[in-house]
Amino acid sequence: MYSERTLCLKSSAIREILKITSKPGMISFAGGLPCAALFPLEEIAASIHNVLSKFRSSALQYSVTEGIPGLREKIAGIIDPDGTRIGQQNILITHGSQQGLDLISKLFIDAGTPVLTENPTYLGALQPFRFFQAKIESIRCDDRGLCIDSLKDKMRHIRPSLMYLMPNFQNPTGSTLSSERRIELVEIVQDQNFFVIEDDPYGDLAFDGAKHPSLLRLGGTHNFIYLSTFSKTIAPGFRVAFVAASEEIIGKLAVIKQGTDLQTNTFGQYVIREYLESGNYFNHVNRIREAYKNRRDRMISAIKKHFPGQVTWNCPSGGMFLWIKLPEWAEAEELLPRCLDRGVAFVPGREFFPDGSGKNTMRLNFSCASPADIDEGIKRIGEALK
Ligand SMILES: Cc1ncc(COP(=O)(O)O)c(C=O)c1O
Repeated sequence: MYSERTLCLKSSAIREILKITSKPGMISFAGGLPCAALFPLEEIAASIHNVLSKFRSSALQYSVTEGIPGLREKIAGIIDPDGTRIGQQNILITHGSQQGLDLISKLFIDAGTPVLTENPTYLGALQPFRFFQAKIESIRCDDRGLCIDSLKDKMRHIRPSLMYLMPNFQNPTGSTLSSERRIELVEIVQDQNFFVIEDDPYGDLAFDGAKHPSLLRLGGTHNFIYLSTFSKTIAPGFRVAFVAASEEIIGKLAVIKQGTDLQTNTFGQYVIREYLESGNYFNHVNRIREAYKNRRDRMISAIKKHFPGQVTWNCPSGGMFLWIKLPEWAEAEELLPRCLDRGVAFVPGREFFPDGSGKNTMRLNFSCASPADIDEGIKRIGEALK
């Protein structure tokens, strides 16, 4: 009765945990939520007011599938300030980066199409890849991101059509692909000529403000498709994000998008464009960088105090996640119910590993809980661990 594709449908483990974490009193390190208390409410209110007074009903009308003109230009200017590689014709506005992943999957994936991912990777990308029945092959990662030797090994047996990775402050591990590896990766991709989805929702949340060049800038639009979003830097409720790619790919994705939702919501696009033009955006991003850096430090101090000695963690230089490794024999999934009983939640790492490994890992989000809740939540996990 239902399509064969839907036989593999499974709700994301994170979405399931999030249902539990909405209970009152629960401290959650589970979601990938930005801190709502830092949303720039007053500035957004001013942008909304300006949009309605300047553009009146056009801000509420249908608009073009690719996205409203000024916004595409503005984004092109942000991701390619020299204006040499990316223009507005290379940008498609999407309903969240999640929609970008879905549209790209529709464009590239048939049943059995080989898709390379990091191991671990973002669950929300695995969902559309699996839905379109990709053959997912995962590549080992370490604290400098994707391991190039593991990629080369894999490519001895597989000719990929598509690869997916997050070079900056990866979800779930928080790791960043080093400069040397970026260059090596671009060379391999260009040599073997396949497409790479570079998913970059966290790149602007670098705590020292320094950003590696994107793979798109290094390698160009022939092989690289770049995704980013205003979900983590402004607010996810707008669902305004974008794909940057060759004109040919943008044209095809736009046709697929027509059949999906016609266009991204007009009003949200107007408000985001107005906010970008107000000049407040970069100050706001600086404010959240600083707040998140403080929360990361707070979480690490609490971990040092409360976690037993065999547990290890990283110190990401941006983004929203800490990655915890328990001893080899331990299982984070067994720890979770004990933590939920104590009123604290996290995401066990195994779900993020396409190859099913990683049972002793866990992801902790540090952007969303208040500093006091960070102390208390880590103390509770520490008690459960002991
Ligand atoms: C790596 C990654 N890609 C994409 C998304 C989806 O973002 P959006 O809110 O723009 O759909 C997220 C959200 O957590 C993410 O972590």
